[in-house]
Amino acid sequence: MYTQSFNVQDSTGLKSVTPPAVENPEAQARFDQKIDADGKIEPQDWMPDGYRKTLVRQISQHAHSEIVGMLPEGNWISRAPSLKRKAILIAKVQDEGGHGLYLYSAAETLGTSRGQMLDALHSGKAKYSSIFNYPTLNWADVGVIGWLVDGAAISNQIPLCRCSYGPYARAMIRVCKEESFHQRQGYEALLTMMGGTDAQKAMVQDAVNRWWWKCLAMFGPPDADSPHSAQAMRWGIKRISNDDLRQKFIDATVPQARVLGVTLPDPDLKWNEERQHHDYGQIDWDEFWSTVNGNGPCNKERLATRVKAHNDGQWVRDAALAYSSKQLNKTLKDAA
Ligand SMILES: [Fe+2]
Ligand SMILES: [Fe+2]
Repeated sequence: MYTQSFNVQDSTGLKSVTPPAVENPEAQARFDQKIDADGKIEPQDWMPDGYRKTLVRQISQHAHSEIVGMLPEGNWISRAPSLKRKAILIAKVQDEGGHGLYLYSAAETLGTSRGQMLDALHSGKAKYSSIFNYPTLNWADVGVIGWLVDGAAISNQIPLCRCSYGPYARAMIRVCKEESFHQRQGYEALLTMMGGTDAQKAMVQDAVNRWWWKCLAMFGPPDADSPHSAQAMRWGIKRISNDDLRQKFIDATVPQARVLGVTLPDPDLKWNEERQHHDYGQIDWDEFWSTVNGNGPCNKERLATRVKAHNDGQWVRDAALAYSSKQLNKTLKDAA
């Protein structure tokens, strides 16, 4: 999942492999012209150093969010209530791993290696979406993550299909198609539960209560507190502001909640005839920042699980490298 609103400052010190851009007014003019004409910037094109750094940070945070996002739902694969739900969940979690791969590849085209990005994640210097630092307590959480978390991710990510950086924009087209399946499978799982027992309905409502506000925070701080947004908009990286995206998501979700038969936990949520949008209550930004800064309920567990998975996979990487070097030797021998 996840995107522009997660482009918060991290302390990676990720260095670009390519030298910093020198003052180059002609190249800058060509770059500006391309951006103004809504063209795509490609890896071989000159780009301002700030543009490159912003993209590396944003795309790598997005990639980290995809692979850390596999963990809360992955916990439920062995406890899925039926073979059908298990197959769907395995496919979804696998998709998230694939999203991570496309995104690391897109970030690598900017001159930063995957090893550098993973080191930044594993050492705790890089951020990933804070939404994954909350626990999944029951099966309804899996449905609510699909419906609301993937739903919020889609709202964030559709504008990124038009991002000015070609490899990121192209990766997002496929990601968005898959996210749409994630959202619908979550909603369908919840619809099934809402047709069940009172206990099942209560589980869905409880999960909605716990996730709603956290999903609204996924769009990032209010526009007034997002100082980097204007530059990202100027560069064609960000297309729609945090508050506008949040509003769109709320307006789309309210009727879906009605069909489902759940209450969204906000007493201030109501239709505003004049604005032709829903008004909504205050998001707890202190809680959001506290989680971003490492103090959420699952931050330590998620990072430890990710690091262990990486270390446990070392033999696979070693085997792949050994195989490719054997193949290369064979090709060289055959050619000799
Ligand atoms: Fe994803
Ligand atoms: Fe997803």
